[in-house]
Amino acid sequence: MAAIRDKTIWITGASSGIGKALALRLARNNNFIIVSSRGRDSLLELQKAAPKHIRVLDCDVGDDAAMEEAGDRLASLTDHLDMVVACAGTCEYDDGLTLDVESYRRVFDANFFGVVNTLRQALPLLAHSKKPVFAAVGSLSSVVGFPRAEAYGASKAALGYFLDSVRADTSRVCLQVVHIRPGFIDTPLTESNDFDMPFLMTPEAAAECIENGLERGKHVIDFPRRLSWPLRFLGFFRSLWFRVFAPRMTRIRTLRKSSCA
Ligand SMILES: NC(=O)c1ccc[n+]([C@@H]2O[C@H](COP(=O)([O-])OP(=O)(O)OC[C@H]3O[C@@H](n4cnc5c(N)ncnc54)[C@H](OP(=O)(O)O)[C@@H]3O)[C@@H](O)[C@H]2O)c1
Repeated sequence: MAAIRDKTIWITGASSGIGKALALRLARNNNFIIVSSRGRDSLLELQKAAPKHIRVLDCDVGDDAAMEEAGDRLASLTDHLDMVVACAGTCEYDDGLTLDVESYRRVFDANFFGVVNTLRQALPLLAHSKKPVFAAVGSLSSVVGFPRAEAYGASKAALGYFLDSVRADTSRVCLQVVHIRPGFIDTPLTESNDFDMPFLMTPEAAAECIENGLERGKHVIDFPRRLSWPLRFLGFFRSLWFRVFAPRMTRIRTLRKSSCA
């Protein structure tokens, strides 16, 4: 099995779920891992698993000023970064098409601007690596328009375009830009989902898919295939998605608010 070794890696969103599983997995192979999230205590707890290989950098990726300060702390922890995995993220569904702009902003702050802030602080340190990698965690939900996912899916779709643009802009320099798109993973983010989650995976299985994809030099890491292939197909045949599948999934029966189930 492919393994990443002897690298200096910054992982955001590392206090739980996918990011935590990835940090623990990568800490095994003499990698030096810098872990971030807002909750310092859970990061310190995580550090206990591999004290020599894990360092804590608590920060709110959606807070521009705090990220400038975090960038200074990052530079005091390491003089270079070989890899960054921007995993921090959040999900808020728009139930009943409320179009609550504050909710959309919170989601975009973490899922989109959080990644921009992360790259902004990481880029000078990535420049000191021979084969730098910048990876960010999007979602398979951005392949087609899911009901209730107006904010979440849009933030992940915007992330996809951002990563493509960065890839284009760095196509003459050696920055590997990676878009990771998981399906459903059993984490705190999904525990309140009240619908069937097909092909639900453990965070550990997700971390394995991510490490394998990164080690193989992939630019897009979609998993599980059983979900990504049908979704890509439906993303191509969009009318099938909107005529057959979306009507079965939406909870909205009328545009009058009181009638929303
Ligand atoms: N679970 C899934 O089915 C699934 C599917 C596709 C994509 N994803 C994506 O995978 C990523 C990880 O999600 P997960 O499922 O592992 O959820 P999770 O267990 O809730 O983890 C989210 C992580 O992000 C951190 N975080 C959230 N907002 C932050 C902020 N503003 N600044 C810094 N850290 C922040 C959280 O820590 P703090 O709260 O302590 O800050 C936590 O460490 C997310 O980007 C998510 O959108 C998840």
